[in-house]
Amino acid sequence: MQAVILVGGEGTRLRPLTYGTPKPMVPLFGVPFLERTLGRLRAAGVEEAILASGYLPQAIRDHFGDGERIGMRLTYVVEETPLGTAGAIRNVADKITGTFFVLNGDVLGSLDLRAMLNFHRLKDGIGTLHAIRVEDPSPFGCIVHDRAARVTEFVEKPPRDDAPTDEINAGTYLLEPDVLDAIPAGRAVSIERETFPQLLASGAKLYSYVTADYWLDVGRPAQYLQAHFDVLDGKLSLDVPGSGIAERGTFWQTSGRHHGAGRVNAPSFIGLDVTIDSSAEVGPYAVLGADCYVGPDAFVRDSVLWDGVEVEAGARIADAILASNVRVGTAAVVESGAVIGHDAVIPPNLVLSPDARVSASAEGPGAQAV
Ligand code: GDD
Ligand code: MG
Repeated sequence: MQAVILVGGEGTRLRPLTYGTPKPMVPLFGVPFLERTLGRLRAAGVEEAILASGYLPQAIRDHFGDGERIGMRLTYVVEETPLGTAGAIRNVADKITGTFFVLNGDVLGSLDLRAMLNFHRLKDGIGTLHAIRVEDPSPFGCIVHDRAARVTEFVEKPPRDDAPTDEINAGTYLLEPDVLDAIPAGRAVSIERETFPQLLASGAKLYSYVTADYWLDVGRPAQYLQAHFDVLDGKLSLDVPGSGIAERGTFWQTSGRHHGAGRVNAPSFIGLDVTIDSSAEVGPYAVLGADCYVGPDAFVRDSVLWDGVEVEAGARIADAILASNVRVGTAAVVESGAVIGHDAVIPPNLVLSPDARVSASAEGPGAQAV
């Protein structure tokens, strides 16, 4: 069994995190997002994944190589210009040997892939689309189907009050090779806006596989934070290497050191070799990567810090994402949806405005709004 994973997007909504890190390599509790996806495919019996990439492909290849470490065969196909979600699939057509999975690279879920495959075989259509129900379908693709689960309409990103259903495309498909013939080669094609509507118009049989399990598209900062909070709350189980659960919902790295006597409120996750000053307060809902430092009287909550982040004395971090090696100066305030890119330095006493986006200045240490 094969899977095509769409990992070519630029991750614009996650900038500046995605300036140096492609979206599939953005860490979830210190582990690249894509690693979990591949592990789930492997567990479902998928032996080969074709990574349709384009943006920062080398970062993905450097980490996974040929896939031997994770027990899979990985093939990398790099698009010179983005081919869109269907064009990317058409572009790897010569590698497809039978029924195959397609996955959006930014979806976090607990879908039973084998059960979906059984459903697909039973329905015997040209494609099966995983669907879930959400409150606001407007940022997604809406899937309308009849009582036999046959898709009758696919509407990508409808206006907010004009969605035909609350069942949306969850970004996992099972497709038959015949679908490849329906996608024109050599140009950008959107599977959502072009291929699915055309297949439906031609009478092709697509089915909707609706489930009620955990699902989140982590492609936006608020959702990326939410994914961490959901894991801390036990809504989604995640294998975090080298960690154990010390108290309900609280993860602690077990194989490393945690220095200092600062207060840590559950649920929180503390990485290896983190130092928390005895007058600092961390959590609830703090995720600290390896080698982070939280200084005297500083606090961090409702936030995700990647590796090597330094929070100086009296600084406040809340509802924020800080990429690797960010330094937050004394008494600075980073709150309310701020996203800070790797290596940025927030000067002392600076109070960032809500939803601030800051990346390291190209001229050297310092910070600039992006
Ligand atoms: N190879 C390649 N080439 N991959 C691409 C390209 C491309 O040109 N464009 C996007 N991708 C990848 C992205 O990296 C991502 O993994 C996936 O395709 C989906 O793109 P997004 O940009 O994240 O789309 P979206 O979240 O707005 O909408 C899609 O996902 C929703 C579910 O999360 C659509 O499929 C919606 O219908 C769906 O509801
Ligand atoms: Mg997405």
